[in-house]
Amino acid sequence: MKTVAIIGSQWGDEGKGKVIDYLARKADVVVRAQGGNNAGHTLVVGDKKYALHLIPSGVLNPNTINIIGNGIVFDPKGFLDELEKLKDDNIDVSNIKISDRAHVIFPYHKELDALAEEARGENKIGTTKKGIGPCYMDKTERSGIRICDLMDKDIFYNKLKLQVEAKNNLVKNIYKKDELFDLETIYNEYLEYADKIREYVDDTSVIVYNAIKEGKKVLFEGAQGTLLDLDLGTYPFVTSSHPISGGFAIGSGIGPNMIKDVIGIVKSYTTRVGEGPFVTELNDEIGEQIRVQGNEFGTTTGRARRCGWFDSVIVKYSARVNGLTSISLMLLDVLTGFDTIKICTAYKMGDKIIKDFPASLEDLSKCEPVYEELQGWNEDITNIEKFEDLPENAKKYINKIEEIVGVSVDMISVGPKRTQTIIRKNIF
Ligand code: GDP
Ligand code: IMO
Ligand code: MG
Repeated sequence: MKTVAIIGSQWGDEGKGKVIDYLARKADVVVRAQGGNNAGHTLVVGDKKYALHLIPSGVLNPNTINIIGNGIVFDPKGFLDELEKLKDDNIDVSNIKISDRAHVIFPYHKELDALAEEARGENKIGTTKKGIGPCYMDKTERSGIRICDLMDKDIFYNKLKLQVEAKNNLVKNIYKKDELFDLETIYNEYLEYADKIREYVDDTSVIVYNAIKEGKKVLFEGAQGTLLDLDLGTYPFVTSSHPISGGFAIGSGIGPNMIKDVIGIVKSYTTRVGEGPFVTELNDEIGEQIRVQGNEFGTTTGRARRCGWFDSVIVKYSARVNGLTSISLMLLDVLTGFDTIKICTAYKMGDKIIKDFPASLEDLSKCEPVYEELQGWNEDITNIEKFEDLPENAKKYINKIEEIVGVSVDMISVGPKRTQTIIRKNIF
């Protein structure tokens, strides 16, 4: 089997898009299986930058089939906007498939996302306000509307009518708002979307299954990151899906034994967007230097990302809950120019040393990082092609990460472009 899952190992934005695009040149199929257009994956080819949110990062390769799986929450407007941009750039978009089982995001989901955040006040999650949480809420409540419903105008009308009534009740009686949703407006808008997406809709589980059975190369594209997982992340400051490797089986409709390797995409330091505890966060000039050197501003919302040193407690946790078989270490060039670089090897809570990432956020917010200090490097590494040619201190940094996490670093990224990639071992 030639199937590889690409997983965000921290809080998202680790550089998954770059790795997928790089590996997709050899892939027959790329599958997105969870989340929605809360994701922002950046691909850089030559001097051209592409920001993808819902469309899989294999789309720049004309021979790759790009699948939006059943686990996705699908915003048709977001999808069509993205599609138009790609068409404007003369990208072939005919190889996109959308699962007929994916759930559809409606305007009321986005509005409820914003209203819930407002109601949370200082406990807000810092969501992307794309309607992700409310759409998954409808899914688990068993009242969601799926792509297959949208494809039949009568079934769609009846289901939408019930939902608009329910959401208007919620907005009026709980949130005390007067601006209500209009059934006919949403219905007509979404019928237009339905006509535009119809040609892409398919039973994607069948396509993925057959591709694997035929020995084709299949890449599973993670969105978000392990610590944003609904079960294993920093709950409640998480997203509403399962960005860990286990999420791929459900979200693409295949058995878990059909995923062979799991590559953890790991940033050389740590970032997070949104709220919640962050043990190695640097609220000082070093954090600012990382933010500037790494251009750490969100691809989806433009928000400044919070930055801190590499946290091996998180990455070890990620290796465990995802079953990582390999690591791709990203944005190493961003650490150029620091005299010393720190790696967090454990947490200290009072007089207790913690090595396994804790469940309780109250505990986590009391944790202090225990650091090991390494010497930095000043050489420009953005054009280096071989591991051996990296500065000694950069090699020591990578070796230290491997030693602590216990997973081999097989790919190293030293810049956003495809060409700025060091391969130590071919994994796909
Ligand atoms: P994703 O959500 O995991 O796909 O990551 P994002 O695209 O949101 O954020 C990663 C950012 O880092 C993007 O702007 C990439 O172009 C950029 N990037 C990826 N790899 C590297 C790298 O090795 N060095 C630098 N400097 N930038 C990189
Ligand atoms: P990619 O795929 C980073 C974060 C939001 C917020 C929390 C919940 O680009 O790595 P949501 O809108 O999902 O309900 O927000 O999750 N978040 C991400 N952070 N990268 C992402 O995706 C994210 N997708 C969601 O900032 O804290
Ligand atoms: Mg991103």
